Amino acid sequence: MKTVILFGSPRKDGNTAQLTGAFSRGLKEKGCDVRTIYLNDINIRPCQGCLTCLPKGICKINDDMKDIRKYITESDLIIYATPVYWFAPSSQLKLVIDRSISFFDTEYNSRIKGKKAVTIMTCADESSDTFSPSKDMFRRTFDLLGISYAGSVEATGCTGKGVVKDESMEKAVKLAESLI
Ligand SMILES: Cc1cc2nc3c(=O)[nH]c(=O)nc-3n(C[C@H](O)[C@H](O)[C@H](O)COP(=O)(O)O)c2cc1C
Repeated sequence: MKTVILFGSPRKDGNTAQLTGAFSRGLKEKGCDVRTIYLNDINIRPCQGCLTCLPKGICKINDDMKDIRKYITESDLIIYATPVYWFAPSSQLKLVIDRSISFFDTEYNSRIKGKKAVTIMTCADESSDTFSPSKDMFRRTFDLLGISYAGSVEATGCTGKGVVKDESMEKAVKLAESLI
């Protein structure tokens, strides 16, 4: 199974990296081809809302979203990994979500329907309800894009760095294994 991880945290050694690492190892151990894209390191401009991408799926902005588009198109599984920032995904990841409008055609049919998606999130709060607004957004977005929401793994109580609880790490590995 070809997988792309859209990694939305600016911290490569933080909690989201820790949890995503466990998930990614679980997939690799089962022989999956996993590519991680550190969104903070690349250049993706905000969607300009012109909709000129709809007819051919080509955005007029010439930036790194071209590569992301290719990786998403080639993958069976897309991982959206992000810390919660103000009850939402990070800006790094939201830029990719907004620019994903180019996966629609002029009739708003999805060009990537049938793919699977998983979300991986961390937050400082102890309440898992903090993830609800983001999970709701992801669910509705995947529905519109014809992508199936194959699972999610979250870690609460992440106030420091590298503090994801073993329980969440185990859930990440189990989720990865369940997808193969
Ligand atoms: C700008 C910003 C906004 C945040 N907003 C929230 C929030 O709304 N709820 C919450 O529980 N934690 C919030 N946090 C805490 C992070 O989600 C949490 O520490 C996360 O594990 C950081 O991930 P990282 O280690 O990958 O950077 C916020 C952190 C930052 C820097």
